[in-house]
Amino acid sequence: MSLDQVSPGRPAAIADALSERFAREYGVPSLGVFRAPGRVNLIGEHLDYNDGLCLPIALPHATYAALAARDDDEVRVTSLQQDQPWSGQLEALGPGDVDGWAAYVAGVVWALRQLGWDLPGLDIMVDSRVPVGSGLSSSAALECSVALGLCAVAGTDADDEVRRALVTACMRAETEVAGAPTGGMDQTVSLFAQPQHALLLDCRDGSTRQVPWDPSAAELELLVVDTRSSHTLSDGGYESRRRDCESAADSLGVASLREVDDADAALSALPDERVRRRARHVFSEMGRVRESVDQIGDADFAGLGRTFCASHASMRDDFEISTPELDAVVDTAVEHGALGARMTGGGFGGSAIALVPRAQGEAVRAAIGAEFDRRGWPSPGFLSAEPSAGANRTA
Ligand code: GLA
Repeated sequence: MSLDQVSPGRPAAIADALSERFAREYGVPSLGVFRAPGRVNLIGEHLDYNDGLCLPIALPHATYAALAARDDDEVRVTSLQQDQPWSGQLEALGPGDVDGWAAYVAGVVWALRQLGWDLPGLDIMVDSRVPVGSGLSSSAALECSVALGLCAVAGTDADDEVRRALVTACMRAETEVAGAPTGGMDQTVSLFAQPQHALLLDCRDGSTRQVPWDPSAAELELLVVDTRSSHTLSDGGYESRRRDCESAADSLGVASLREVDDADAALSALPDERVRRRARHVFSEMGRVRESVDQIGDADFAGLGRTFCASHASMRDDFEISTPELDAVVDTAVEHGALGARMTGGGFGGSAIALVPRAQGEAVRAAIGAEFDRRGWPSPGFLSAEPSAGANRTA
């Protein structure tokens, strides 16, 4: 059995190769290469669209975008991961006009133009090192790498205020053009992450706080396991969870579940059993984010591991977004020495994280690989979750 370690590659080498290929295929030099990372969420799942708190980190795995302005209105997009390039006219990039992977790119151009940015026709080439469909935000990485590149095209400095506008534009691209009604956590961390930190994001007012995150100082590693089982945010499961939360807030007469002060009273006031369980996940997860921030501050990693496991149980039983593969990763990791583990991201497949003493890392990987083998599932991928920088220019 081979254990598949998914490498992020070397940013400078990826950027050089992409610039070269861009110049070769488009016949002009690119303006630069812009990188935006994928993410794992440490905790606070399905809370962003409930105005709650989440705590993601950026991965070293990123998407790279090279681009150049054109002197006409055409937009041409090539991805090194796709067979077919895409092209369209600047005026026809909005909702209903573009399908598939190119919607994430065209959608960002459209959304920035909606915000009043004066953008010309473009040549764009992307190379993604974030595994697609693994719940690690390959779509946000794609949007944000292009968005940062468009700042350079527009001659705009990507300061914090501009980055906040980019988050809005990328969210509109994803929800309105690509049709995935997601909540903004992924784009925010992709644009605002700092190395060696997790980002505490308060989705009620969009404020952020950098939380030092360095498990290696305690001889621990955060292992990411891609189950390679299907994960998509636009096929209904994600949206129906969101609708349940909105319907709970409606019944309780609040704008969002974040506004509820007395969770027990609120839960007993919800008549529908399924909606009640969804709301219970939201309330309990909110408490776990706060607990986790304290546990990280106190270097209480055993406590944090227990909080991870409680979060997973809530997503499995109350929110019902886990899968047998994700449960198997969590159970196997904990049986073989992880302090705690949980699925991460939207759910319905994708990835899980495990907080593992370094000395147990190989044993945990091997046990998970063996369990997948035994159950006849495709081999999982393993990624290192070195907390990395948010979007930046690499060349
Ligand atoms: C996906 C979405 C995010 C968030 C998570 C769940 O990653 O894109 O907005 O809702 O699921 O926490």
